[in-house]
Amino acid sequence: MEGLLLFENDSLMKIKSHKWEYEVKRIFDLRSALESVLVDGDIILIDQNVAKLYKQNLKTALNKHEYMLIEPTENLKSYQQIEKIIDWLIRVGFKKNNRLVAVGGGITQDICSFISSIMYRGVGWVFFPTNLLSQADSCIGSKTSINFGSYKNQVGNFHPPILILIDVSFLQTLSRMDFRSGMGEMMHYFIIAGREDMKRISIDYDMAFNNDDVLFDLIKRSLEIKKSLIEIDEFDLGPRNIFNYGHSFGHALESYTNYEIPHGIAVSFGMDIANQLSVALGLMIEKDAIEIRNVLQKNWWPCNFPEIDIDSFINLLSKDKKNIGKKFRFVLSKGPGNILIDTFDDNAMLREVLNERLEFYKNESSRFNSN
Ligand SMILES: NC(=O)c1ccc[n+]([C@@H]2O[C@H](COP(=O)([O-])OP(=O)(O)OC[C@H]3O[C@@H](n4cnc5c(N)ncnc54)[C@H](O)[C@@H]3O)[C@@H](O)[C@H]2O)c1
Ligand SMILES: [Zn+2]
Repeated sequence: MEGLLLFENDSLMKIKSHKWEYEVKRIFDLRSALESVLVDGDIILIDQNVAKLYKQNLKTALNKHEYMLIEPTENLKSYQQIEKIIDWLIRVGFKKNNRLVAVGGGITQDICSFISSIMYRGVGWVFFPTNLLSQADSCIGSKTSINFGSYKNQVGNFHPPILILIDVSFLQTLSRMDFRSGMGEMMHYFIIAGREDMKRISIDYDMAFNNDDVLFDLIKRSLEIKKSLIEIDEFDLGPRNIFNYGHSFGHALESYTNYEIPHGIAVSFGMDIANQLSVALGLMIEKDAIEIRNVLQKNWWPCNFPEIDIDSFINLLSKDKKNIGKKFRFVLSKGPGNILIDTFDDNAMLREVLNERLEFYKNESSRFNSN
């Protein structure tokens, strides 16, 4: 077709949402995808590290469109910083019929999606996720969040993109830690899905670091698992809650270490703690906890696991927005594919499980680091 620039792409899936149906596509050539997808008036918000690394491929798009470099820090996900970006958008002539385009990871996504949801009561946005966490997880599901002071993700709403374009070749430049963070988040979907998927990610884990096709198939499966619940419970009022498996403990670990343990790695420890608590409650048999741990620990090391003060850790857990009154609300498990949610107020049991697990991680971490 003369005159129409086509780019090679595969449609992965379409996701139904309360606002519109949106599509996830795989792309193989960033430059031509940008040329085909972007239209006049689109404004790009791009992770500054990605802009530097992919300067050549982005050159044409960044010459043609207004853009802002995003420094991917939690501090940028604040009212004060968002206000500055909105001020800039208005000054450069962004209008209701224009679109924002996010190129980056979860932070760039949250900033772009949140602004898109509130500006002019909602504008469209397009997403090029560039790290594993955003490609395998956060790109779908509609959630937008910013932080409120030091409280993470307290303000937000649901505003999906109109199109998501995944280029796995971006992942070649990820740091090992960011790569493992994405692997941890994928493990969580695979273990929630059941024994067969858990076995699959365990087998493919090492290969995923070096083989784009294996990695892409895992990303696709991860999105399929997430799609199955976000389509029936987009607003996270019921079934979707099980995706918080490993997250209460993971978030506490992220906060405690000031994000030195990145999200997905923290979640891979968090699932193990949730399992051990499930064993203590008689929900899960020890054999299953060990089997799952053997998968999870592929993703744990190397990692500087700190000495943790249990009281402070429990205090962090008590801040979880999903708790009800003074009771904890934990996502527990009866085994792979068998997740349940329950309230919990046995502080002595929680303390015992945390003592044992956190001590174990600390010792393993020292052992690993001294080898
Ligand atoms: N909205 C949602 O559904 C959702 C879901 C999960 C997480 N989140 C949010 O996302 C954030 C965490 O996401 P994240 O880990 O992607 O953070 P991030 O955006 O800071 O990315 C992590 C690092 O990866 C780098 N990076 C991205 N692409 C790269 C590439 N191709 N090559 C080299 N480096 C690259 C970034 O520059 C950054 O340093 C948190 O704020 C979390 O709350 C949102
Ligand atoms: Zn997560």
